[in-house]
Amino acid sequence: MAFPAQRPRRLRTTAQMRDMVRETRLSPSDFILPLFVASDKDAERPITAMPGCKVLSGKPLIKYAKKIRDHGVPAILLFGIATRSEKDLTASTASGSDGPVQTALAQLKDAVPDLVLIADLCLCEYKSDGHCGILKDGQIDNDATLERIGAIATAYARSGADVIAPSGMMDGMVQAIRTALDADDFKNTATMPYSAKFASALYGPFKAGTDSSPEVGLHHTHQMDMANGREAMREIALDLDEGADLIIIKPALPCLDVIRDARERFSVPIAAYHVSGESAMIRAAGERGFLDADKVMMESLVCIKRAGADMIITYSALDAIAQLQR
Ligand code: PBG
Ligand code: ZN
Repeated sequence: MAFPAQRPRRLRTTAQMRDMVRETRLSPSDFILPLFVASDKDAERPITAMPGCKVLSGKPLIKYAKKIRDHGVPAILLFGIATRSEKDLTASTASGSDGPVQTALAQLKDAVPDLVLIADLCLCEYKSDGHCGILKDGQIDNDATLERIGAIATAYARSGADVIAPSGMMDGMVQAIRTALDADDFKNTATMPYSAKFASALYGPFKAGTDSSPEVGLHHTHQMDMANGREAMREIALDLDEGADLIIIKPALPCLDVIRDARERFSVPIAAYHVSGESAMIRAAGERGFLDADKVMMESLVCIKRAGADMIITYSALDAIAQLQR
């Protein structure tokens, strides 16, 4: 029998009742915080295109990492910011011994061992042409890129990375990394590919902030078409076959259906990346007084978890934790 026997509002009468029946709860352990590191000593400078984010290294980096850990965040995701002179056509800085990410990993592993260190792996941050792969005749050569990806993964693992997160959407990238890591006895270093990374204008602030926009856009030849949900399941299945331990879906809010489908089909942990543009939209609307940015951010994060994400990669992790504790 429906109404009047059924009255869902009975369970919403008080804050305590609503708290009791709440299905999804955010906690600090849900979050992964992206960090940007450079190779100059003790750097601490804001990234204009991404308010609240900084480029860090050395002492300020360690201090911030400890703060993150003290707030209960289990993991950070490292991105390298390379100078012009650190960039070339093969992304050699990414596989050398003193690249920004390698240096940061070694310092963090030593100073904050109780933080999971995830290293984003792509060539674009280190290539003078800004592309995610090695070019041949104006196109990205998938297999030549895989060789570089394997070498970079080994350099990151050697420096202390617990997890390698390849973000270039090259075919076979997980296998290339797994093979390289296992050959070097890094059997316990995990892989966390961006399995379903869609080509999106929502990465705009990140690209402006990290100076990694390519001269000629080839992103659509490797990142997925936003229109394709079934293809995302195929990409995830392939990465898992190649040995992926965790997967990333990105961006987050436009992909809640993909997150849900993946949750139902696969049993690995799923991370959703709430990207720079998603964060910027909320912040900008809040600054103009159109909405309450803090509340909209919390709604966004809880809905990403409700859709099925186990972890959320977000620039707002510390702000969200402050709100949870309020
Ligand atoms: C590539 C990478 C990008 C982002 C994460 N990893 C940029 C891109 O693919 O163009 C975007 C993240 C964001 O927008 O917050 N290394
Ligand atoms: Zn890239």
